[in-house]
Amino acid sequence: MDMSFQRASWSSLLLIAFAVLISSVECARDPLKTLAKPNYTFDQLWELEKSFWDSFLYPANVKQTEGNASSVFATDVQGRVDITRTFDGDELNREYIFGLFSDPAHVSLVGVPIAYNITQFSANDNLASATTIVTFNATTFGMLVPVTIDTWIMWDAEGKITQYDAVFRRFEYLVDYLIGSVATKINATSSEQAVGYVSDLLAKTICATHEEYCTGANEQYSDSKACYEFLTGGVRFGKSYELGRNTLLCREVHEHMVQYRPDVHCAHIGPNGGGYCVDDMSYTETVWQGYFNSSWIPFGFEGN
Ligand SMILES: *[C@@H]1O[C@H](CO)[C@@H](O)[C@H](O)[C@H]1NC(C)=O
Ligand SMILES: *[C@@H]1O[C@H](CO)[C@@H](O)[C@H](O)[C@H]1NC(C)=O
Ligand SMILES: *[C@@H]1O[C@H](CO)[C@@H](O)[C@H](O)[C@H]1NC(C)=O
Ligand SMILES: *[C@@H]1O[C@H](CO)[C@@H](O)[C@H](O)[C@H]1NC(C)=O
Ligand SMILES: *[C@@H]1O[C@H](CO)[C@@H](O)[C@H](O)[C@H]1NC(C)=O
Ligand SMILES: *[C@@H]1O[C@H](CO)[C@@H](O)[C@H](O)[C@H]1NC(C)=O
Repeated sequence: MDMSFQRASWSSLLLIAFAVLISSVECARDPLKTLAKPNYTFDQLWELEKSFWDSFLYPANVKQTEGNASSVFATDVQGRVDITRTFDGDELNREYIFGLFSDPAHVSLVGVPIAYNITQFSANDNLASATTIVTFNATTFGMLVPVTIDTWIMWDAEGKITQYDAVFRRFEYLVDYLIGSVATKINATSSEQAVGYVSDLLAKTICATHEEYCTGANEQYSDSKACYEFLTGGVRFGKSYELGRNTLLCREVHEHMVQYRPDVHCAHIGPNGGGYCVDDMSYTETVWQGYFNSSWIPFGFEGN
């Protein structure tokens, strides 16, 4: 796996050098247009897609959480994940896309990604649409879980991601599958009992993180008891599409990011949700949310 990662890095380096060369030649002609929308070949877009997934896998993803400049995301990247919400900028996206799935020893829903298979792929200009089946080692539950992730990704002239839109296909089925496996493991007599078991585990984990990192001005709960009571009784567990709403599941997502920047992320695991774990948008507003600055429709067909 090391070898293939190195090969991927090497080919993406070549690709980036090539793209920079091309774009600097083109820039002389038409700077704004070229910077806004480079043209890649199909082969190049395939390599860019694979290089993203190679860096997503554990343990390569650990490297992406370190340092302060991304080799994957553009500084002002815009990202959206259907079951959570939108994420602006390189730093937040590295914490979220890579940091969230980089510690096999930490309690989490799906654990760490260890393999992927791209099963559908189409690409034009500077963007690609793909379906990828990612195998996660769900270490908390002791099982390997395949997860289908549909993505649209757009790259800049340096081969960095400027926009991505991701959908977790069959996520509801996945959550039910995980809960069902827990139920079997603990000999639960109902799915409510299994949800209760998972809630207890997640709440204890979030409260331990709060205790360790959210101190002083970042404190959200007066003590662990208040934290646990809120997470298990003051807020709903959450449906499968509510990982960016006022739920326990949303706080479980953000809990992983607290370690990187407590001043930013503590509020997200607190009672008021810090603007992330909040019920701020209706179904219709969510569907129509105009978020991306560049059109996903190639060849200038947008706007019809
Ligand atoms: C990319 O290709 C499209 C279609 O061939 C063309 O209209 C556009 O001008 C090209 N863009 C650049 C930056 O070369
Ligand atoms: C990035 O990290 C390096 C080394 O830790 C540091 O010297 C530099 O100031 C940081 N740059 C930014 C923009 O934070
Ligand atoms: C997208 O557009 C909005 C509104 O014009 C602007 O505030 C924001 O900085 C833009 N973001 C990017 C990444 O270009
Ligand atoms: C998925 O990819 C791996 C290599 O990364 C390969 O060994 C495996 O056979 C693939 N699985 C399927 C179902 O294509
Ligand atoms: C999954 O993680 C566990 C715990 O870290 C490890 O023992 C196991 O080998 C991993 N499985 C795979 C297939 O990587
Ligand atoms: C579940 O039931 C099996 C069979 O009765 C038993 O061996 C196992 O210890 C039980 N597990 C738990 C967590 O209670």
